[in-house]
Amino acid sequence: MRAVELGKTGEKIPVIGQGTWGLSRWKSAEYYQQWKRVLHQGISLGMTHIDTAEVYGMGMAERIVGEVVKEYPRDELFIASKLFPFRFFHNSIKKAAYKSLERLHLDYLDLYLVHWPNPVVSIEKHMRALEALVEEGKTRFIGVSNYSVNQVEIAMHALKKTELVTNQVKASVTAQKHLKDLPFYRKEKITLTAYSPLGHRGLATIADEQQKKLTLVAEKYNVTIQQVALSWLVSMEGVITIPKTVTIDHVKANARAAETVLPTEEIRMLWEDSQ
Ligand SMILES: NC(=O)c1ccc[n+]([C@@H]2O[C@H](COP(=O)([O-])OP(=O)(O)OC[C@H]3O[C@@H](n4cnc5c(N)ncnc54)[C@H](OP(=O)(O)O)[C@@H]3O)[C@@H](O)[C@H]2O)c1
Repeated sequence: MRAVELGKTGEKIPVIGQGTWGLSRWKSAEYYQQWKRVLHQGISLGMTHIDTAEVYGMGMAERIVGEVVKEYPRDELFIASKLFPFRFFHNSIKKAAYKSLERLHLDYLDLYLVHWPNPVVSIEKHMRALEALVEEGKTRFIGVSNYSVNQVEIAMHALKKTELVTNQVKASVTAQKHLKDLPFYRKEKITLTAYSPLGHRGLATIADEQQKKLTLVAEKYNVTIQQVALSWLVSMEGVITIPKTVTIDHVKANARAAETVLPTEEIRMLWEDSQ
């Protein structure tokens, strides 16, 4: 699996990792088993960045990820989780991270993100709490999710001893808005983590024009349109992604998508506003 630098940390992170939204409560034991098999398969293919959040399945996703990751040497994995940002006190924010660690059976996270901005809790307060977690050794790196460029700038300036390494935002061939901010992220050396890289529904319904362009590239490289969509994202400097799947064939296909680095011309062709 191809890896790139995360932010300006010197740490290498696989360009394609694994998402876990949908690992909800009240599913069958077989469903959880299947998801665990897929996560193991993904890890064996180098998709060692696993993205979860306390809010996914109200803790269930972290529990299932925890059952998988305890079978590996800790330093072979890169585990990210996210704070549900409706805590108002410094200590309650820190306690939320401790609870995530408990569910994940981990001593530390690799990355802890604020899941989205909350207008009632200041960005500065969130950054102070996350920075304290780094100082305590509870997370190696910190970042944000669903922040605008302006909010990222506020977060960066609020940090005293730590760098912001990523903003995790919705980005795909069908949702390109945040990708237009790439020059900012590259200048600041902040990684853009693309979530819902397959439009959340595996590109089941996309506009005819986009379908045509994806199919053209897919035929050229003998891959699927979903693989093209992933390759397209991670062919861009400063972008990594975290597709979600519960299907073994899909996790294998997603890992293979990292091998195709599209040339500039094809990257350009898949932009919505290209002719
Ligand atoms: N920060 C945030 O606010 C936020 C929001 C949304 C998502 N996320 C993160 O991003 C991750 C990914 O986003 P997502 O879950 O919204 O959706 P996604 O990864 O864009 O799409 C998932 C869908 O694509 C299908 N799929 C996956 N690989 C495929 C392949 N190779 N060929 C065909 N279909 C394929 C899956 O079906 P199968 O399962 O059957 O393969 C599923 O229906 C989440 O799981 C979560 O970790 C973060």
